[in-house]
Amino acid sequence: MSAPLSMGAEGQHRAMLSFNRVSKQFAHGVKALDGVTFDVPRGEFCVILGPSGSGKSTLLRALNGLTPLSSGRIAVDGAELKPKSLRSVQRRVAMVHQQFNLVERLDVAQNVMSGAVADAAFWRVLLKWYPKSLRERACDLIARVGLDELHLTRRMGELSGGQQQRVGIARAFLLDPDVILADEPVASLDPATSRDVLTLLRDAARERGTTVLCSLHQLDLALDFADRIIAMRSGSIVFDGRPDALDRSTVASIYEGSGLEQSRVAA
Ligand SMILES: Nc1ncnc2c1ncn2[C@@H]1O[C@H](COP(=O)(O)OP(=O)(O)O)[C@@H](O)[C@H]1O
Ligand SMILES: [Mg+2]
Repeated sequence: MSAPLSMGAEGQHRAMLSFNRVSKQFAHGVKALDGVTFDVPRGEFCVILGPSGSGKSTLLRALNGLTPLSSGRIAVDGAELKPKSLRSVQRRVAMVHQQFNLVERLDVAQNVMSGAVADAAFWRVLLKWYPKSLRERACDLIARVGLDELHLTRRMGELSGGQQQRVGIARAFLLDPDVILADEPVASLDPATSRDVLTLLRDAARERGTTVLCSLHQLDLALDFADRIIAMRSGSIVFDGRPDALDRSTVASIYEGSGLEQSRVAA
């Protein structure tokens, strides 16, 4: 077996993701991230937990280079995120969206293959002309997320929300990314489907050693699926640890005044 990629030349363990005093202040004064510092080791399923407005989306978008930072540094597998390195980092990071972000008029297979946009020549994407290896990979992934062959040629509008998010997950895995960012991937799904989709995401990531940063606002899902929870409030981290270390007073401080009742935690 080859050495794990997270080992540096000196044999030092290197974090897959590294946030160092990251702040983001929007033009009209809202501080969406306020000195956020944490590292995520390779292969971890890390949940960013917090009520609406706590900064979860801003954090994920900063990591994908979609939101320029006001200050601080972010590194992916040791490479600092800079305008020059952005494209090469983005190739290794895939995204799963709350509203699926699929193309309505395309079928399932075409949507999954659109995950190759970062890799394929633009004209191929435009002509929907993908190499055989990619088409085979898309078919394997579609089967892996529990959709059968009958679904390959279905358009998105014919699928349920849960099925659409399965397609979103298959697309995210297409280029075998090191990191998947999932921004409230189950926010528009019912509770049972949410659990199915999170199970699928977690298990597929585990099989491949993919690092996942997944934002959620529901405590019960975070407790059941996370290897680790980073809880946010008003742009700051208020808890960082294993789910079983979350206590009732911390939970109260995360959700205080948010109108969300969160009761499922030991005193
Ligand atoms: N593009 C933007 N311009 C101005 N303010 C923003 C923008 N995006 C987010 N915010 C503000 O930043 C804060 C954090 O937002 P967000 O990261 O979307 O939180 P969450 O995803 O946890 O709901 C909120 O106060 C929000 O209103
Ligand atoms: Mg959000």
